[in-house]
Amino acid sequence: MPKRRDVLAIVLIVLPWTLLITVWHQNTLSPLLTLRRDDGSEISVRRDAVQTSDWKESCPSDRGIVEVLRTEYVYTRPPPWSDALPAIHVVTPTYNRPVQKAELTRLTNTLLHVPNLHWILVEDAQRRTALVTRLLRETGLNYTHLNVETPRSYKLRGDVRNPRFPRGTMQRNLALRWLRETFHPNRSRPGVVYFGDDDNTYSLELFEEMRSTRKVSVWPVAFVGGLRYESPKVNAAGKVYGWKTVFDPHRPFAIDMAGFAINLHLVLQRPQAYFKLRGVKGGYQESSLLRELVTLNDLEPKAANCTKILVWHTRTEKPVLVNEGKKGFTDPNLEI
Ligand SMILES: *[C@@H]1O[C@H](CO)[C@@H](O)[C@H](O)[C@H]1NC(C)=O
Ligand SMILES: *[C@@H]1O[C@H](CO)[C@@H](O)[C@H](O)[C@H]1NC(C)=O
Ligand SMILES: *[C@@H]1O[C@H](CO)[C@@H](O)[C@H](O)[C@H]1NC(C)=O
Repeated sequence: MPKRRDVLAIVLIVLPWTLLITVWHQNTLSPLLTLRRDDGSEISVRRDAVQTSDWKESCPSDRGIVEVLRTEYVYTRPPPWSDALPAIHVVTPTYNRPVQKAELTRLTNTLLHVPNLHWILVEDAQRRTALVTRLLRETGLNYTHLNVETPRSYKLRGDVRNPRFPRGTMQRNLALRWLRETFHPNRSRPGVVYFGDDDNTYSLELFEEMRSTRKVSVWPVAFVGGLRYESPKVNAAGKVYGWKTVFDPHRPFAIDMAGFAINLHLVLQRPQAYFKLRGVKGGYQESSLLRELVTLNDLEPKAANCTKILVWHTRTEKPVLVNEGKKGFTDPNLEI
């Protein structure tokens, strides 16, 4: 049984503190907010600290301060460049269509979270468009904006649904050329090259998986080839020995464009390696580049030995992809 004297002592200790915290909370809102951001991330703190004084001046009321702080927090992305991390060069071909701006905005919002990311956006157009130029300028991303128009002769050869149509191929090749002209094979900083189309959905984890690519790294891709997913086959020793795919599994590299990344040095050391434009059967586009760079034995499986889905094709050619059983690969442990 606590004595009355003890209860009184506790009340006398707690009461002043409660009052103090209440007053503190009402009068000095911004120091509390700064504290809350501090444990959010190291990166934002330094930049925010610089800007705090400006916000106070421009915002007379406490409510105003809260809103402005939130906005500024968003715009501190991307994280600052660090020479300690290999850069990721994401190559994205894009072309004018009704959903272009929506897709690029969605992709931008993903890329803004990734440290040391350099975005190479290549328009399939005669000149760089105002829409894309403006969008890039406003993102705050580290980017390079290129353009090359796919000649009419290629466009006329097949319609868009024909897989032989080399959509994006010239644009990806231009990015490879740009990398080779920009970085010296013997002196460039560590980096990774990834072909990330603007109509896929990417987990942030994917970028950290690919960052350690020594030659070519590979992983599964969901909703591709008419399946729930396609994946490299990985044996108990952690080596890639084949492909889980229905469409022509005997291709040298039966892998989607979104399913691999290449070490920048390898790209620079093999200047002859490009995606082939002519005489490439549908589905062989990826193989035409990869066979110039590596053998099956060199591939590094990522995403927990290819047991995790970290990238999804979200604009699909076929509306229904869920073909379980005979055609699809059923793995009860794989979350898609
Ligand atoms: C932009 O990316 C390049 C690599 O392509 C890097 O060398 C440069 O430091 C980056 N600049 C900024 C401001 O992040
Ligand atoms: C890079 O280094 C290798 C060997 O040190 C040398 O043979 C090669 O010519 C160099 N490449 C360039 C472009 O300087
Ligand atoms: C992948 O498999 C290899 C061989 O079984 C194993 O040593 C390695 O730890 C695995 N990696 C991951 C990330 O699960």
